[in-house]
Amino acid sequence: MTVDEAPNVARMWDYHQGGDRASPADRRLADAVTTACPELPEAARANRAFLGRVLQHLVARGIRQFLDLGAGLPTARNTHQMVCGSRVVYVDTDPMAVLHNRIGVIGNPDVTVVQADLRDPELVLRHRDVRHYIDFARPVAVLALAVYHFVPDAEEPASGTASIYDHVAPGSYLAISHGSADDSPDRVGRVADLYAAAGIPLRPRSRSEIAALFDRFALVGPGLVAARRWEPSAPPPATPRPAGWYAGLGRKTGP
Ligand SMILES: C[S@@+](CC[C@H](N)C(=O)[O-])C[C@H]1O[C@@H](n2cnc3c(N)ncnc32)[C@H](O)[C@@H]1O
Repeated sequence: MTVDEAPNVARMWDYHQGGDRASPADRRLADAVTTACPELPEAARANRAFLGRVLQHLVARGIRQFLDLGAGLPTARNTHQMVCGSRVVYVDTDPMAVLHNRIGVIGNPDVTVVQADLRDPELVLRHRDVRHYIDFARPVAVLALAVYHFVPDAEEPASGTASIYDHVAPGSYLAISHGSADDSPDRVGRVADLYAAAGIPLRPRSRSEIAALFDRFALVGPGLVAARRWEPSAPPPATPRPAGWYAGLGRKTGP
């Protein structure tokens, strides 16, 4: 398989959201994945709607700096367009996603795009361009939507989010959305197998495993729930329902 024939997760995600940048290889895998798990395009839309609700909530609380990890391809309603006037740094490991984002923010002095790997959080947080745009002495929102399920256990995602906690000021936030097999183990297992066959590691996590990624961040609103159910004013459910796509927002309340 040449690089051009390799499916690309950023373009596939764009395709699931109705975008038109997918290659034939992207479409083949995305269609196979959707056949195995028909709720995936809906999860992609719920994920984007969750982003919108989180940003609205954070802007209302005075957050004006956003670090968007695993930003993906620009689509409709990108982070910087929903938090106008705030500082935004997009981070992605994929040069193609970085290039598209850079083109999309040309001339915008509040936004920059960094090619970096969130599996090395120290490198991301200490990156010259990140520090130029984000003042870590003030509260910042770190967004990690639909990305940590690409980080295998061996890469210790929880130690990554612990580093983020240690680096940000009290009052900062961490938003995570993450795929899970809690609701439909067989279907999501087939999705993981399809990704693995294409050379893409996918690690769906249980609700408690995803909760552990929040480290010391205190979950706000309803806690960790299905992305489509996350509303900042919703109370935590008495018994959380198993979901295929969890989302939550944590706040650093301690030192
Ligand atoms: C499914 S897309 C999610 C895009 C966006 N966050 C959203 O929720 O719509 C995942 C993105 O994460 C990026 N990604 C995957 N692993 C990464 C890593 N280790 N570091 C940074 N970005 C990563 C991929 O290149 C892709 O653009």
